[in-house]
Amino acid sequence: MSNLKDLFNPRGIAVIGASRDPTKIGHIILKNIVEYGYRRGIYPVNPSVSDVMGLKTYPAVSTISDKVDVVIVSIPNTKVPEAIDDAGKAGVKHAVVIASGFKEIGNVDLENEVVRRARRHGMRVLGPNIFGYVYTPVRLNATFGPRDVIPGNVAFITQSGALGIALMGSTILEGIGISAIVSVGNKSDIDDADLLEFFDEDPNTSVVLIYMEGVSDGRRFVNVASKISMKKPVIVIKSGRTEAGARAAASHTGSLAGNVALYESAFKQSGVISTKSVEEAFDFVKTLSWNPLPPGDRVVVITNGGGAGVQASDTLADDGIYLEKPPQDFVEEVRKILPPFASLANPVDLTGMAPEDWYYRSVKSALQNSGIDAVLVLYCHTALTSPVGVARAVAGAVDEVGVRKPISVAIIGGLEAYEAIKHLTNLKIPAYPTPERAAHALAAQLKYRKYREYLIKKEQIAS
Ligand code: ACO
Repeated sequence: MSNLKDLFNPRGIAVIGASRDPTKIGHIILKNIVEYGYRRGIYPVNPSVSDVMGLKTYPAVSTISDKVDVVIVSIPNTKVPEAIDDAGKAGVKHAVVIASGFKEIGNVDLENEVVRRARRHGMRVLGPNIFGYVYTPVRLNATFGPRDVIPGNVAFITQSGALGIALMGSTILEGIGISAIVSVGNKSDIDDADLLEFFDEDPNTSVVLIYMEGVSDGRRFVNVASKISMKKPVIVIKSGRTEAGARAAASHTGSLAGNVALYESAFKQSGVISTKSVEEAFDFVKTLSWNPLPPGDRVVVITNGGGAGVQASDTLADDGIYLEKPPQDFVEEVRKILPPFASLANPVDLTGMAPEDWYYRSVKSALQNSGIDAVLVLYCHTALTSPVGVARAVAGAVDEVGVRKPISVAIIGGLEAYEAIKHLTNLKIPAYPTPERAAHALAAQLKYRKYREYLIKKEQIAS
């Protein structure tokens, strides 16, 4: 296990700058730690008050007699080096530096000083210029972001603070379960590669999502990312892709966003799934974290609308997934329930008159058929059926078959379609409002499967 074990499972955690003032960041972080349910030692540190939120307060970390592995540092930048020294002397292993005002505004010396002092004590630094971190397996939410993160298997590393905090909220809205959220900010010490090493071995994480502006050690990132990609998908939202974006990244976290082509080739080499937008990344997270990996890429598309089927076929083809004729036994099975004018090529068109039951029976049959690796279900809202009814039918088929196969669903329509998507999301069945998004997210999973096999073979040949 990498040496970040104590960061994610600390015996005790101190908040330096824990204030009684509920508007201050130190107060909010302490509150989140307490209220999200962290069960080990919690120690507010503030020399000017005796208690905060009913917890005894310490004037300095060095006055705490219990074991503290992590300090959250929420005091102004110029005071950070001294606090690091004090924590280091007390045997603290990790400093999580919330304060801004370092490399991102040209204060390189101050940032280097923090890292130098930490290293002197064998301490690692997360940040500075961050909103903190979350690790749900131990109910630790040491951030000033939303509190009630949903526990799950996705680790999210973010270089952007504000966007990261907002996305924390989005994961709750989108029903995405989280193992960890780590704000890395200026990455003065702990970086993406360190975290990937931890998540590679973390049994609570099966997908990693990174919002990245830049990395300083590209070679190490590629090595570590290639290793983890053989086991777990790594999805990256790489920002600063254009000259304007790169300029913005430089003044945001002091990162050099670098040459886009270089990043793209590094991601390709290491099996990292590159995305251009938050929406695309979240779409992929759903298929990759909720579906099992398929053995192949034989997709069957089931739809009640020809146009939706065409759009999905185009999207799959753009992603290198080509639809083949469905297996004969599947065709015969669905022929029994469909009118003679239904097209049973791939896409399988249930026709515009399809009731919920046709969805149930055709999806069930596809999930049971060993000649089909993945199922894409498309539904266009008609007055004959209710979107929630179709969602229930699809979920019922998944439930009945038991063994999960990759599935992705598009429910296309208005407000009721949105309700149906929510219904499927609650059951961890990936569902989207357009055929293109459902198809693209499924394709991401199929492409990852292929690439993973390639990486494993390459590794076997090399060893
Ligand atoms: N040890 C312990 N406590 C101390 C120390 C010390 N050495 N020095 C000061 N304190 C106390 C203060 O007295 C105060 O407590 P009080 O309210 O009881 O008086 C508390 O610690 C906080 O210190 P303040 O000086 O009041 O600082 P404040 O809380 O206003 O700001 C902060 C500190 C949040 C770190 C600020 O300097 C900062 O950097 N803000 C930006 C943070 C940020 O945006 N981070 C990153 C990005 S995430 C994103 O973008 C969303």
